[in-house]
Amino acid sequence: MSVLTIAGSPARQSRSTALLEHLSELLEAWGIATRAVRLRDLPADDLIEGRIQSPAARIVRAKVDVAQAIIVATPVYKASLSGGLKALLDLLPENAFAGKTVLPVATGGSNAHLLVLEYGLKPVLSALGARHILSGIYATDEDVGFGEDGAIRIAAPLQERLQESAERLTEGLLRVDSLSSVRRLEIASGTERVRA
Ligand SMILES: Cc1cc2nc3c(=O)[nH]c(=O)nc-3n(C[C@H](O)[C@H](O)[C@H](O)COP(=O)(O)O)c2cc1C
Repeated sequence: MSVLTIAGSPARQSRSTALLEHLSELLEAWGIATRAVRLRDLPADDLIEGRIQSPAARIVRAKVDVAQAIIVATPVYKASLSGGLKALLDLLPENAFAGKTVLPVATGGSNAHLLVLEYGLKPVLSALGARHILSGIYATDEDVGFGEDGAIRIAAPLQERLQESAERLTEGLLRVDSLSSVRRLEIASGTERVRA
């Protein structure tokens, strides 16, 4: 069971990426392996030219392939997802997210563009084949920031929402995992039935 986080901010000190790191820490503490893809780590030429065969793009695709769940985070830019994240997602094939549980996350300057999750990010996730998209997490710059020491500061109510979302993601993963275990048992014991 593994979860991939995709950080769609180009910023060096990124609120949305910090939320992903917080979620990863929660999941790791529960014994769930996490891996990360960061927009900042991809060569700009690959993104701008859409080089789907580049080594970096292949690595991203391989990480997506093996993940059972994906958490995608973006900053709100001009009332939508970041252009860089869109360029990153454009390196993936159609249906790259099929069969995976996806949790969208966005941070914005205010609540004015709260619906970016519904109208900006989720349609792109659907176009990638995601059918099990959890209700997302939207946070403002008041909810999450950095102290003078550079350490992340997350407001308590947002910490609770992150915890709840991580729990929902985990429940979904365990359900899928136990269903496939049942199927493996049925096949092994010769009792597999054709399901409607
Ligand atoms: C180019 C640019 C455009 C932005 N546009 C919006 C916007 O339309 N709506 C909004 O609420 N915040 C907007 N913001 C603020 C960011 O979404 C916000 O600060 C976010 O938390 C940054 O996330 P990051 O630290 O992960 O990059 C914009 C910021 C930048 C740099």
